[in-house]
Amino acid sequence: MARQTPLRAIRGMHDLLPDQSARWQQLEDRARAVLERYGYQEMRTPLVEQSELFKRSIGEVTDIVEKEMYSFEDRGGDQLSLRPEGTASCVRAAIEHGLLEQPRRIWYRGPMFRRERPQRGRYRQFHQIGVEVFGLGGPDIDLEVILLTHRLWQALGLGDLRLEINSLGDSAERADYREQLVAYLRAHEDRLDDDSRRRLETNPLRVLDSKNPDLQALLASAPSLHAALGRDSRAHFEALCAGLERAGIAYEINPRLVRGLDYYNRTVFEWITDALGAQGTVCAGGRYDGLVEQLGGRATPAVGFALGLERLLELSDSAPPASIDAYLIAVGEQASAAAMPIAERIRDALPALRLICHCGGGSFKSQFKRADRSGARVALVLGDDELAQGRIGIKPLRAPQDDRTQASTDQAKAEQTSVALDALAEQLPRFL
Ligand code: HAM
Repeated sequence: MARQTPLRAIRGMHDLLPDQSARWQQLEDRARAVLERYGYQEMRTPLVEQSELFKRSIGEVTDIVEKEMYSFEDRGGDQLSLRPEGTASCVRAAIEHGLLEQPRRIWYRGPMFRRERPQRGRYRQFHQIGVEVFGLGGPDIDLEVILLTHRLWQALGLGDLRLEINSLGDSAERADYREQLVAYLRAHEDRLDDDSRRRLETNPLRVLDSKNPDLQALLASAPSLHAALGRDSRAHFEALCAGLERAGIAYEINPRLVRGLDYYNRTVFEWITDALGAQGTVCAGGRYDGLVEQLGGRATPAVGFALGLERLLELSDSAPPASIDAYLIAVGEQASAAAMPIAERIRDALPALRLICHCGGGSFKSQFKRADRSGARVALVLGDDELAQGRIGIKPLRAPQDDRTQASTDQAKAEQTSVALDALAEQLPRFL
């Protein structure tokens, strides 16, 4: 048969290749450790939901729902969508399984799908780690989720992230403000660009979000959302600011931070870096006290955030952790036959050891080459003679992890040590 044209991954959707996975796992492990330290429990929900869920939560006239969802009718005629974010699913599941009787701290991770124009830091399948807290309405929990993200940056070795916060008020306050803003923008409609004119009709608060430099002066003089906040919203926001100050977390109040999803009220926040170009928001979230009720549950306050793993990974320059410790090579008829059972015995004796057992035969030279390419710290070397004497060779391929000077690397590469097979489990760790 003639060779076929190879198929490619969908634009904006990426394969996670074997040599990248160690960094992803490291990031996910560190994040999970921090989340567990704050008492958050993981939840996993399906990647596909009824489209209606996202329309009712994110909002019919948001970019996500209007333009970016991967939606389809399944064979039973149901209207379904790949999830563009995790909050809606989390709320749906919490209602469905009666999780809202008491305060809950939940986290999740996984791929999200938005058909945006792909560019650096913006993909059509991307990955989030998110947090949702249900049943707590005060500024103290807003502070906790921000402190948690701050600790995450420390755990990941990230500096240089800027925290922006804002308050959107409650729905009545926002409705009042919306009227004021629409009146102001209508009075200056000739100065708006097409996008803002469209948003003025559908989602006027999002005009504040415009990055168009020509609009900045106009928007800077727009009525202030903060002036529209009532007493309770103001007190909530001030308590959060005071908490951040007590905790020594620097922040900026950005009165034009409005977020692209409709469900937010009161606190919203973003962590932003200048190091990633236009897509600099690595983490974003806020309070959404009306959403549970809007999706059919009993009124329950809620707050959460999600961070973008691709963006965080691009920002951190951590070296990938080594993934292989040892590579067992065997030459000779008896040695080759004994290699797999010996590898099993070694794995029994050293449960944390990551060991590859060579497959496919070949000379010492070719097997050593494979061992070296695997990234292993040591080769374990078995020949018929060694086997007959009950011994095995340990040949360092790299200096031990805690000593990587050039001298130690050269010295390490030079020597091969022979040890009794029975003593291998005891001897091997000092070479790793
Ligand atoms: P979001 O702002 O849409 O919020 O997304 C959160 C983060 O996901 C962004 O700050 C960014 O790091 C990452 N992200 C979003 N879209 C993309 C993309 N196309 N490519 C790469 N990364 C992306 C939410 O999703 C809310 N559910 C957050 C939340 C949780 N609010 C309350 N609870």
